[in-house]
Amino acid sequence: MTLWGGRFSGSLDPLAWELNASIGFDQRLARQDVRGSIAWAQAIAAAGVLSAAECDQICAGLQTVAQEFEAERFAFQPGDEDIHTAVERRLGELIGPLAGKLHTGRSRNDQVATDFRLWVLDNLPVLDAALQEFQSALVERAEADFETLMPGYTHLQRAQPILLSHWWLSHFWPLHRDRQRLHDLVKRVAVLPLGSGALAGCPFAIDRAALAQALGFAAPSANSLEAVSDRDFAAEFLFCTAMIGLHLSKLSEMMVLFTTAEFGFFELSDAFSTGSSLMPQKKNPDLFELARGKSGALLGLLNGMLAMLKGLPSTYDKDLQEDKPPVFAAFDTLTTILPALTGALRTLKTRPARMRAGIDAAMLATDLADYLVERGVAFREAHALAGKAVRLAAERGVTLDALSVSDYQGLHAAFGTEVHTVFDPAQSVARRKASGGTAPEAVKVQLQQAKEALHLQHAAPTQPDSAGKAS
Ligand code: ARG
Repeated sequence: MTLWGGRFSGSLDPLAWELNASIGFDQRLARQDVRGSIAWAQAIAAAGVLSAAECDQICAGLQTVAQEFEAERFAFQPGDEDIHTAVERRLGELIGPLAGKLHTGRSRNDQVATDFRLWVLDNLPVLDAALQEFQSALVERAEADFETLMPGYTHLQRAQPILLSHWWLSHFWPLHRDRQRLHDLVKRVAVLPLGSGALAGCPFAIDRAALAQALGFAAPSANSLEAVSDRDFAAEFLFCTAMIGLHLSKLSEMMVLFTTAEFGFFELSDAFSTGSSLMPQKKNPDLFELARGKSGALLGLLNGMLAMLKGLPSTYDKDLQEDKPPVFAAFDTLTTILPALTGALRTLKTRPARMRAGIDAAMLATDLADYLVERGVAFREAHALAGKAVRLAAERGVTLDALSVSDYQGLHAAFGTEVHTVFDPAQSVARRKASGGTAPEAVKVQLQQAKEALHLQHAAPTQPDSAGKAS
């Protein structure tokens, strides 16, 4: 039985039913739907629509429905068009015709928008926790690999020596911004649509501020027309997840590259890598490849949502039913990827000797120029002189540190006899101690900052019993 049969003489064609029904995915809103309905029953009771006894009976019935969902005993029926229908149908079975009073003054338009926002509020902390755990793994790696030297790249060409800890932490901060974005999103999700009716508002004397508070929202929406159609929060959520995907993809691409035999900087643990059905020797970084690949799908989910919203007239349109699958998909994708990558990071082996071998003397050409600057040569000239040294070494087929003191002095008198001290990569790294640089003393400060950033508090104004539970 649908909630809207009155004006129809026949029933919906099965083919139309198939397209129209949303129960297949919106049953994920079960908890939120029941919670919203309990608060609604109380709101209309306070407005004099229900007696106290009726309200108690309805709420008790809804609690039973909630327990059935919790125990996974709830039996969906073939006629349940969506989660709202399923809950109301079951309530009717439990308490009889009184169930028919619950929907007074409410529409599924304000109801579904409320349920969906509650779901996002409930699940933002779950995503946040998965990100935090991943960040913790990066911090642990940075601590464990603190002094390890590695080649740093620009254009994927060897550039300058850096600390591996600095590199790990370079993947921490983008995720920090992602978490800040999720936290910031809360205030735009926590606006209550319930009490907007189908579009025009509620004719009963409900206290929407109290309703908002009861459901853990910061405030009721200001405009009923807008409230039933606003899905900015869902699009923003998908932007956040797309960015997270992008950040994980960048790290993943590096992990794929750095685990090749050619680089050999990392070796993945057996538990977090896979083999080939044909080539017995293969150990593949599939998890990172999947993260890289799935990040493309995450971008697509955002695009799909924006495209769905783009052509809509104002207030509720059924297109909006399509808002939920992409949000659920993005959430499921990330809550699957993040723990797996966290495990992979925690269990991989680093190969410091391979990284050290990737640092050649040419990567210290900048240090050579800086050395001349310290001895009074203008940087532009110092840069040109270091470049000449690189060319001379290349012509002779030797490395930069193989040129002799007299070779250097032949280029410029400012080169001293201790010029070769420049070619110590540890020294090069140690010199970059301005804040945010790769020197151990700067990275130590950064590590401290990262540890503090880990404890970003989640600001979700939602009920404590629901926070942190995925559904
Ligand atoms: N399943 C619908 C959705 O997710 C519920 C709202 C239906 N409203 C309506 N006017 N048909 O959007």
